Amino acid sequence: MSTRREFLKTVVGGGIALSAVKLPWLAGCSHGGTTERQPLVIPDEFAGGMLVASVLSATSSGLGTQPWTLGGRTPAPTIRVRKADMFSTQLVNNLAEPTNIHWHGVLVPADMDGHPKEPVAAGGSRMFSYQVQNRAGTYWYHPHPHQATGKQVYLGMAGFFIVNDSEEQALGLPAGAFDVPLLIQDRRLASGSPGYAFQPMDIPNGYLGDTITVNGVPNAYFEVATGLYRFRLLNGANARIFRLQFADGRPLVVIATDGGLLEAPVTTDSLWLGPGERAEILVDFSKDPIGSSLLLHSIEFGMGGPTGGGGHAGHGGSTSTVPPQGADVDIIRFDVKRAAASGGSIPTKLATLEKLDPGTASKTRTFELAMRQGVTTGLHTINNLLFDLARMDEQLAAQAIEIWEFKSLDDGNIHPMHVHGMQFQVISRSSGPLNANDMGWKDTVLVFPMETVRVVARVSSYPGMYLLHCHTLEHEDDGMMINLQVT
Ligand code: C2O
Ligand code: CU
Ligand code: CU
Repeated sequence: MSTRREFLKTVVGGGIALSAVKLPWLAGCSHGGTTERQPLVIPDEFAGGMLVASVLSATSSGLGTQPWTLGGRTPAPTIRVRKADMFSTQLVNNLAEPTNIHWHGVLVPADMDGHPKEPVAAGGSRMFSYQVQNRAGTYWYHPHPHQATGKQVYLGMAGFFIVNDSEEQALGLPAGAFDVPLLIQDRRLASGSPGYAFQPMDIPNGYLGDTITVNGVPNAYFEVATGLYRFRLLNGANARIFRLQFADGRPLVVIATDGGLLEAPVTTDSLWLGPGERAEILVDFSKDPIGSSLLLHSIEFGMGGPTGGGGHAGHGGSTSTVPPQGADVDIIRFDVKRAAASGGSIPTKLATLEKLDPGTASKTRTFELAMRQGVTTGLHTINNLLFDLARMDEQLAAQAIEIWEFKSLDDGNIHPMHVHGMQFQVISRSSGPLNANDMGWKDTVLVFPMETVRVVARVSSYPGMYLLHCHTLEHEDDGMMINLQVT
C-alpha cells in the first residue's frame, strides 16, 4: 500500500511532508479579497470549416507564454451544433510537430476519433466529418497525439463542443448571454515557469498549476444580472481535480453531466469535477443584491474518497508554490451588476433518460489501475499494461451492454477514467454512495484511491479502435491507456 511513497523517495531522494505544511500560496488565497481579477472572456463560436493549429506569436495573459491554438485562439472556438447535423472541419497543422483532434464525449466513428495512431504531421491537414449522434450536452475537443496530449492541451489547445436538440430546447433553459461555458484549467503562472516545464514529479502528481484560469483568463470575474444562468462547467485541467462549492454555502443545482441533461435537477453542497468531466449548473441570482459577489471555489479534500474526508492529503506540484491536489483554490467570482429583464425558473423535470439495465450486460470487464515501483516513467498501468499504439487490448461487440469495473490498486492518486466514442452510467462505488456528478450519461468517472467503481456501458455502434485511459494527461501520456477494438 505504499507504492506512492516509495516512488516519492525514488525521485526526490527523501520523504516529503507537503500535507502538513501551510504553503505560501495559501496566503494568497483571498476568497474575493486582494487578488487582482480580470474579466471573463467568452470564446467565439465556430460552425465548421478550416481549423488551423498554430503557435501564436503574441503572449496570452492566461498562459504567460506564446499559446498553442486551434482556430488561432485559446480556448479554441466553441463549436455549436444540433443533434443529427453533419459536422465537418479541416484541421490544418501549422505546428512544428504532429497533432490531431479528439472529440471528447462525442459518439463518432473510430476513424474520426483522433486516435494517436492517426496523427496529422507538421504541415499536413485532414478532414473530420461526421453526423452528430449525441443528445444535447456539453462535450469538448482537444489534441490527442502520442505522448504529447498533456503538453498540447496545457499550452492552449482545447475548446467546447456543444450539442443542442429539440427536447432540450422545449425546456426554455437560460440561453444567449445566460448560457455560459466555463473552461476551468490551472497553469504555472505565479511560479514563473513558462511553457510546459515538465519535471519527474509531474508524472505521478500530474502537471498541477498554481493559478486557475477560466476560459484562459487567470483569476476571472464575470458580471451577471439578477437572473437565472446556465453555466457549462468543463474541467480542462491536465491533472487538477475540483470539488466545487459556493462560498456562501448555497447549493449547486446540477442539471447535466458529461452526456447531457439529467432526468431532474440534483442539488448538492459540493460538486466533484475531475479532468475531462463536465457538469452544467443553474444559478439563480434573482435574490442577490446588485453590488454583491458570489465566489465559486474548490474546497479542500483528502485522498480518502468522494466524501472528501479521511485519507492523506494530496500530493504537490514540482515546487512549493504549486498547491497540492485537493487544496482550496478560487475558481471564479460572479459580480452582480444589473437587474435582469426577466427571471426564469428552474424546471422540475428535465429529460427522459434511458436507463441501462446492468442485468442485461453480456460481459463484465475489470480494469485494474496501478502504479509501478522502481521506475521514473511508465509508472501507470491498466491491467499491468502500458499503452502500445498498435496492440489491441480488449475486443468488444458493437452496441453490446457491458459492465466495467475500475479497480484502483493505487493508494496515492485519484484517476479520472475516460472512454472514447461511447458513454456509460455509474452503478456503484465501493467507498460509499454515488455523488451528483455520477448521475446520468458519463464518459469520464473519478476513481478514488483503492476504490472500485462499477459502470454499465453501451459499446459504440461503429467498428474500429477506441481508447480507454486516465484523463490525468500526464498519466495518459505515461502509458495509462489501452486500446478497445470494437467489431
Ligand atoms: Cu479528452 Cu482521450 O480524451
Ligand atoms: Cu475522449
Ligand atoms: Cu491517473
